[in-house]
Amino acid sequence: MKNPLNFYKPLAVGAPTPLRELPVRLERTIHFFPPQSEKMRAKVPSMIQQVDVLLGNLEDAIPADAKEAARAGFIEVAKAVDFGDTGLWTRVNALNSPWCLDDIIQIVSAAGDKLDVLMVPKVEGPWDIHYVDQLLAQLEAAHHVKKPILIHAILETAQGVKNVNEIAQASPRMHGMSLGPADLSASRGMKTTRVGGGHPFYGVLADANEDGSERTFFQQDLWHYTVARMVDACMSNGLKAFYGPFGDFEDNDACKAQFRNAFLQGCLGTWTLHPKQIEIAKDVFSPEVDEVLFAKRILEAMPDGSGAVMIDGKMQDDATWKQASVIVNLAKLVAKKDPERGAAYGF
Ligand code: GLV
Ligand code: MG
Repeated sequence: MKNPLNFYKPLAVGAPTPLRELPVRLERTIHFFPPQSEKMRAKVPSMIQQVDVLLGNLEDAIPADAKEAARAGFIEVAKAVDFGDTGLWTRVNALNSPWCLDDIIQIVSAAGDKLDVLMVPKVEGPWDIHYVDQLLAQLEAAHHVKKPILIHAILETAQGVKNVNEIAQASPRMHGMSLGPADLSASRGMKTTRVGGGHPFYGVLADANEDGSERTFFQQDLWHYTVARMVDACMSNGLKAFYGPFGDFEDNDACKAQFRNAFLQGCLGTWTLHPKQIEIAKDVFSPEVDEVLFAKRILEAMPDGSGAVMIDGKMQDDATWKQASVIVNLAKLVAKKDPERGAAYGF
């Protein structure tokens, strides 16, 4: 294990010093676009008004013969567009692919100062993060990049889930993690053909009724265990957790339910793959107005955060004060970017 005194030292002479705390940013929507498409590149300036993060996807869903065009298209957009306070991320190809090394070298060389976060797919353990960490430091130093590029891991292999805590602790560059339900299903040998969401056969059957009437089947959340492990690994290490892709673009209700479970369990945002998922994500990952108003009442009733009070018949104490703070702090962040929601929250 590395000496803790060295944890925050740059890994290359001339590389920027690693951050001790993550930048506070609203990241409800990580919107994926295929950068090889000229039509999609032309939409980027208007897209960044609608989303919190724009991500140029180079990995899965980009055909093998378009990988280089996608990388070049991403670099073109990164250099040309002013992203303001919208985050710019890319998902590079997997570390064992023929494209990953050139993805990282070319993007950081050409647009390292524009890139906030590098998303690394199929992370299996801390060794994958150490490799990217070192490579990024060398490239940052060589190209005089001023702020450290952060790393976001996709949790999408059985081994990655097993090592989730070690991945979270692997580098001060770690920004967070997203659940990758499609690859994870395959890696685990789950018997599904979906990208996220529930499954009608995964659930529990209520006990038989005495009158022999039909028994109720309660569908369960396939992703509960993994999201919970990811949230614990991230939050206990100061990182952020995210839901990943939801592939059924026709089922907005199921998409919303999946996003909401992740939000309630501690996730701060989600990927959006289709424009219609953007509003769903913004809606779900902004706290509900009633919750914010109630949380504000808790904070007002307990100005120093200690003791116990009753509000509408519900007991409040130091612990509910902390829950209320989570909601109010998030609402304040949302209000800065989204004045309409901010007004509804009373900020
Ligand atoms: C995302 O990359 C997934 O595999 O679900
Ligand atoms: Mg995947």
